[in-house]
Amino acid sequence: MSHAEHKALSEEAFSLSAHDFERVRELIYRRAGITLAPTKRSMVYSRLSRRLRDTGHTDVGAYLDALGKADSPEWQSFVNALTTNLTSFFREGYHFPVLAEHLRRLVAARGKASIWCAAASTGEEPYSLAITAVEALGARPPVTIFASDIDTDVLAKARRAVYPINTVESLEPDRRRRFFMRGTGSNAGMVRVRAEVAGLVEFGQVNLAAEPWPFREPFDVVFCRNVMIYFDTPTKAAVLTRIHRVLRPEGLLFVGHSENFSDRRDLFSLQGKTVYRKVG
Ligand SMILES: C[S@@+](CC[C@H](N)C(=O)[O-])C[C@H]1O[C@@H](n2cnc3c(N)ncnc32)[C@H](O)[C@@H]1O
Repeated sequence: MSHAEHKALSEEAFSLSAHDFERVRELIYRRAGITLAPTKRSMVYSRLSRRLRDTGHTDVGAYLDALGKADSPEWQSFVNALTTNLTSFFREGYHFPVLAEHLRRLVAARGKASIWCAAASTGEEPYSLAITAVEALGARPPVTIFASDIDTDVLAKARRAVYPINTVESLEPDRRRRFFMRGTGSNAGMVRVRAEVAGLVEFGQVNLAAEPWPFREPFDVVFCRNVMIYFDTPTKAAVLTRIHRVLRPEGLLFVGHSENFSDRRDLFSLQGKTVYRKVG
């Protein structure tokens, strides 16, 4: 532990013992498949301190004991507190022209296309997919987008479709004007995704690490970016196998910049930068 971390821990209102930190790691792994590195103790402390305050606990052990009771509604808040939700509009921008081209081809061949955005966080990613669909195919594209996350707080924000104006500052002005409305009055400093785009996205909760997934129809495209970095090898393998199962033949899987699945040539072949095509 660094000096700064040690100092921070010694000034805490409650203590997070090595034993309780291990319990947190075990619980979040079992619940969400998330592997928290042993170095994340002060992050866990600051994320859980709010939960302890809100639930009236002064001791992590007692909080975790209460959590352990079956079906506690606190489970969801515990998971929400421990996820990392960093995202942005058109993040890893090289994926979007590839998607646009694929959607054009699919719609020309079959008249429609479906996308699953599997770790949608606060919504910037699925709305970027929807904007790409409108730009590629015109208004009301025959494209369905299902966006999910395990975290119910981010899903609520995503459904609101309202963002601080600085989150769209790096977008081209045309895109910004066409797809976002500027807030006025009490919404000054915010933008809202226009209904034309927001209406293309449906949100729901899906835990990637738990079966069953709630899908009846396969998808043409899956975006599963910057989430498997939190999973260990067996969890990644299970998630990849299930994504393979919910993709249509020739379907595309887009992953994050630091995620590499080239060792799973049995399931996916590399198609471009962090874009894979379903095999079989
Ligand atoms: C770093 S964000 C990435 C967001 C977006 N995909 C992007 O690349 O910008 C990771 C997201 O994965 C979600 N997540 C973590 N574990 C998950 C799980 N087991 N099932 C579904 N989502 C999960 C988190 O709640 C978080 O919103």
